[in-house]
Amino acid sequence: MNEKYVVCVTRRIPEAGLTMVHSACQVRLWEGELPPPKEVILREVADCDGLLCLLTDPLDAETIAAGARLRVISQFAVGVDNVDLQAATARGIPVGHTPGVLTEATADMAFALLMAAARRIPEGVERVRAGQWRTWEPLGLLGADVWGATLGIVGLGRIGTAVARRARGFAMRMLYYDRTRRPELEAELGLEYAPLDDLLAQADFVTLHCPLTPETHHVIGERALQRMKPRAILVNTARGPVVDTAALLRALQEGWIAAAALDVTDPEPLPADHPLVSLPNCIVVPHIASATVTARNRMAVMAAENLLAGLRGERLPYCANPEVYAKG
Ligand code: DGY
Repeated sequence: MNEKYVVCVTRRIPEAGLTMVHSACQVRLWEGELPPPKEVILREVADCDGLLCLLTDPLDAETIAAGARLRVISQFAVGVDNVDLQAATARGIPVGHTPGVLTEATADMAFALLMAAARRIPEGVERVRAGQWRTWEPLGLLGADVWGATLGIVGLGRIGTAVARRARGFAMRMLYYDRTRRPELEAELGLEYAPLDDLLAQADFVTLHCPLTPETHHVIGERALQRMKPRAILVNTARGPVVDTAALLRALQEGWIAAAALDVTDPEPLPADHPLVSLPNCIVVPHIASATVTARNRMAVMAAENLLAGLRGERLPYCANPEVYAKG
């Protein structure tokens, strides 16, 4: 690798990946705990050959245009909704991402949130911490059964499928909605395809696993929430704006649904004084679904592999805009 390549890395990532990048490039690493401001990214990309970025960096058309020498963008995440893919493709810049390696970690978290909301675990913890555990209560903290319940999976990609594999162990009836029907998975896992409205009306738990696109933006809004059962629980480990936050707040306050468990929110981070945070029937965690040591190490290695391949002018092993190669 030619060390003349200059790369900008917008946050410290696990050493497994950072070492690979350091060994081959001159690295400009943003050491801040918070994302670099846009003007810093604009300045840095101006004379960088490669950019290794995070989902917290908005890479809009202006930023991409500022990267006069930019040969590759490598995102340390599977979702790339923060990157203007069209603008990157138009400039012939491949965009890397990290599919696959965080699937199981994210599915674990979706299921953990589902269980936590169903069995009201945070409320129980809170009660003990507050010294309010006075006796065994026949009517205290009654929750919902997971075993044998109906699960609605919105988006049957890798993570949605991994959630379905877990749900099978809980004897759940499984409905799914996706743009594409997956007959082989229906047969293998006993999934039933359902139009979104039907899924929402029948599911005891709705778990979101679709990417954020113009079509999925606010797909869970007032109308969708009103279709759900009053005892239903919503789990979001996809992207915050898939759900209309204002509508969700009303749904939880007015009892259209029973509870929500959110790894992702809109906005992100959700301010501590946001009304959703203090609702007893809403669990919010800070976008940590992929936060296991193994998943994050693998993401770092994949992000480095994508970056280095792009610098060498090779096809990215994990490319989010493969159409960039059709342009030749
Ligand atoms: C992703 O990769 O898109 C997750 O949201 C963070 O790991």
